[in-house]
Amino acid sequence: MKFPATVIAFAWEIAQVLGALAAVAMLALCVAPVRRRRLAVAPLALPRHELVGWVALGTALGHVLLSIGADRRVLEHLKATAPVYEWAGLVALGLLLLLTVPATESLRRRLWPTHRPFRLTHLVLSAIALPLVVAHVVTTGRYIHGLVLTAIVAGIAALALVGLLAGRPRAAGPEVRAGAARGQALPSPLIALLLLAAAGSLALLYPGATLALREGLVRRQQPLRVGFPHEKHTEVNCIRCHHNYADHTGLETCIGCHRSARADLKAGAEARFHEFCVGCHRAPEPPLSKHGPTTGCTTCHGPVR
Ligand code: HEC
Ligand code: HEC
Ligand code: HEC
Ligand code: HEC
Repeated sequence: MKFPATVIAFAWEIAQVLGALAAVAMLALCVAPVRRRRLAVAPLALPRHELVGWVALGTALGHVLLSIGADRRVLEHLKATAPVYEWAGLVALGLLLLLTVPATESLRRRLWPTHRPFRLTHLVLSAIALPLVVAHVVTTGRYIHGLVLTAIVAGIAALALVGLLAGRPRAAGPEVRAGAARGQALPSPLIALLLLAAAGSLALLYPGATLALREGLVRRQQPLRVGFPHEKHTEVNCIRCHHNYADHTGLETCIGCHRSARADLKAGAEARFHEFCVGCHRAPEPPLSKHGPTTGCTTCHGPVR
């Protein structure tokens, strides 16, 4: 069955919104945990916490499946050669599965006879998942781009992670045992992990962090067809893209040279071009009134044949 282009574009948008919802839900679960904490916004009742957890899982799964449904090219990013930020998203989805399904009451009681080990596992998985999600969202540039927005999101994530460390404040009531707060103390490897995860979120502010996250884990062998329309880029100076024309050092095609084994190339072809092409499309420089495609893959790579 073939859907009209507008339906496909709409499905893609919905897929992205679902992804954003999943990220917001995961952040909310860390910012507002079940137990009161010194830095937390407000504790969330357990049934609500569980509900938000299921919403996060459902929307994240919907995000992946609908993205693939709307644009088959996305499958390129499910290969081993996928960029790190896509891996980060997929690993986070796996962790989300481990954070929700085994946490259902019947399974939880069977897997963790006492509460403390469950709580520690839950904290460890969350501490790994949150920075991965933030890295995934920031690198796609769909909702978050520019230093200010990145700083806000990375900052909230880092605070939430440090907040999970802060433990329960000592309640004033006489019914609370004096040792209650100490009883909640976290083991030092977990504290180190939470601090590392917080630092990892803040590392996204480092210039070039998203370019690095766009690199594949495994080097890709075959190029992917791209259609580049010059007639759509007449407003952009040739030299902006054909940087080699300025000094006549190379007149090959961009991709031919950028995919070569030249030692002076600092980034892989995909990382370099996605950052460059999509970067301008997402945030066109002032004299540009329009912008090119910012979503989907087929707009640049053509449909899968
Ligand atoms: C704004 C245009 C644009 C969009 C949108 C776009 N790409 Fe690309 N992509 C390129 C360009 C340009 C290259 C570099 C040329 C090349 O290597 O084929 C590239 C390279 C790649 C490569 C590496 C190919 C190689 O030669 O090593 C993969 C894989 C890829 N893109 C997948 C995707 C996927 C998956 C999506 C959608 C999630 C996507 N692209 C969206 C323009 C785009
Ligand atoms: C937005 C970036 C961009 C701008 C601006 C741009 N080009 Fe290109 N140009 C490309 C890309 C990407 C290719 C490679 C297309 C391909 O491989 O399908 C290319 C290919 C070419 C080629 C063919 C090279 C070859 O050997 O196949 C010529 C010639 C060319 N451009 C000239 C120009 C001129 C002249 C201008 C200014 C009027 C210009 N381009 C502006 C990105 C750009
Ligand atoms: C003859 C080889 C060659 C050709 C052809 C070539 N490049 Fe490059 N390009 C390089 C090298 C070398 C660098 C610097 C190392 C790096 O940043 O990876 C570079 C850097 C870049 C950068 C990063 C610039 C920056 O300021 O960080 C972009 C973007 C880029 N190239 C885009 C293109 C586009 C688009 C084309 C085609 C229109 C093209 N290149 C053609 C070799 C080439
Ligand atoms: C400096 C800014 C800039 C850069 C860099 C840039 N683009 Fe564009 N691109 C635009 C603008 C602006 C438009 C919209 C032109 C219009 O709608 O008339 C556009 C349009 C397009 C379109 C047409 C979409 C459609 O509606 O048909 C494609 C495809 C495209 N760009 C691919 C690329 C690829 C691939 C690269 C990288 C090699 C690239 N662009 C780099 C600014 C840029």
